[in-house]
Amino acid sequence: MKINQKLNDAINAQIGEELKASNAYANMAAFFNGRGLLRLAGMFFEQSAEEREHAMKFLHYLLDLEGDVAIPAIPATPDSFGNAKAAFQAALAWEKDVTSKINHLMDLAVEAKDYASQDFLMWYVTEQVEEEATMTHLVTLAETLGDHPEIMLENYLPKE
Ligand SMILES: [Fe+2]
Ligand SMILES: [Fe+2]
Repeated sequence: MKINQKLNDAINAQIGEELKASNAYANMAAFFNGRGLLRLAGMFFEQSAEEREHAMKFLHYLLDLEGDVAIPAIPATPDSFGNAKAAFQAALAWEKDVTSKINHLMDLAVEAKDYASQDFLMWYVTEQVEEEATMTHLVTLAETLGDHPEIMLENYLPKE
């Protein structure tokens, strides 16, 4: 094993967090789909797929270092959000939580003087800036629209 046990264990926990985020966004996509908001649904299905990729990227990193892969149990995530703004606020809160967990992984890599892991984790640090910005934009958009119909949101989604 070419990775320290503490960091290995924390990465396994993070694989669980990324898979939880994937499920959370799939639930959110289904919520929007159920309201006929198909572009928002599409955006969150894509987000869900990305979170799974994040999990697999961690998993393969452990494999490359001959670490131990042990995916933890994934707790259920909300399937109802009241309205679009509440959904975006929940997503932003999740992303902030993930950012602090990624930062914690980085702390462990620094502590272990594990330079390869620091470099690997830097990708996630940068990714989280983008993830938080995306969700912040959606919250702001929902606030700007105020009481206008949610369907207006669909016209202001970022272009793919
Ligand atoms: Fe992620
Ligand atoms: Fe994310």
